[in-house]
Amino acid sequence: MKEKLQSIKEDALAQIAQADDRNKLNEVRVSFLGKKGMLTAVLKSMKEVAPEERPAFGQLVNETRALIEGALEERRSALEQAALEQQLKDEVIDVTLPAKKNNVGHRHPNTIAREEVERIFIGMGYEVMEGPEIEYDEYNFEKLNIPANHPAKDEQDTFYISKDIVLRTQTSPVQARAMETGKLPIRMISPGRVFRSDEVDATHSPSFHQIEGLVIDKNITFADLKGTLEQFAKELFGEETKTKFRPHHFPFTEPSAEVDVSCFKCKGKGCRFCKGSGWIEILGCGMVHPHVLEMCGIDPEVYTGFAFGVGLERIALLKYEIDDMRLLYENDARFLKQF
Ligand code: DAH
Repeated sequence: MKEKLQSIKEDALAQIAQADDRNKLNEVRVSFLGKKGMLTAVLKSMKEVAPEERPAFGQLVNETRALIEGALEERRSALEQAALEQQLKDEVIDVTLPAKKNNVGHRHPNTIAREEVERIFIGMGYEVMEGPEIEYDEYNFEKLNIPANHPAKDEQDTFYISKDIVLRTQTSPVQARAMETGKLPIRMISPGRVFRSDEVDATHSPSFHQIEGLVIDKNITFADLKGTLEQFAKELFGEETKTKFRPHHFPFTEPSAEVDVSCFKCKGKGCRFCKGSGWIEILGCGMVHPHVLEMCGIDPEVYTGFAFGVGLERIALLKYEIDDMRLLYENDARFLKQF
């Protein structure tokens, strides 16, 4: 019996050493320690052992079992370790490989210019408002003092959706919308897309962008308008920039003006950029017409205000010295990458 036990032990240890994966190891366990395993069989044949030897023999069987179990466990953890090492080897990362290029897009020159203008006015306490691109004729024209027979309402300039609805031709209707909220005072700018029935060329596009500005409060004067726009021009084009207000006409402001800035290329001496004049026109502005205030529910005897409208593309073209507006819309990455 003892010899049998000894040979079971040796066989078991040899087979454990040879098992080279977990399944085989499990087979070995079952064949020795399982219900029908060899060691179990030995236990069952205990009755053949003389009664006085049984305790010692039983102990020997238990020791053998413990030994085999220990060997199984050791082998199992060695196999697991080896498997882990193999996996790490297989999944090794070559940190010297060149990194995948991450193609992050960036802001369009129009967006950069818009955010710059927004930054300047937010710094002066303005809020940014939005209005609809598809607008009522009433807001785009009537409430801005542009009567039915006005040339701006001509179908050659305006895209009509229906008799009463247009693609807004300017951001000025947001003025009326701001005033109608009834919240005073108002200090707002409103950037957005506008539409005109124009042929595409270097300076025209059927869709472009404007930024509207509106201030309504008590005691607002033309001096506030001048100071604000002078400061705006300096922040946008540089501290040495001069501004010039030329009388002009807009139906919704009285008096009205167009504003030129001194050419930041030649500092006013005259160059190709400013067509020799030393000045570049950048926006339209004026004191909000009393009739417009009235139509929007504001008492012109108590409140006054100023408004202005800037062409966003114009700012972007000037700032980046681009001489053809079409470049801004063609979405040629080689062009856009430069800003
Ligand atoms: N809406 C005008 C345009 O499209 C620009 C403009 C001029 C806006 C004077 C204003 C303003 O608010 O006061 O030509």
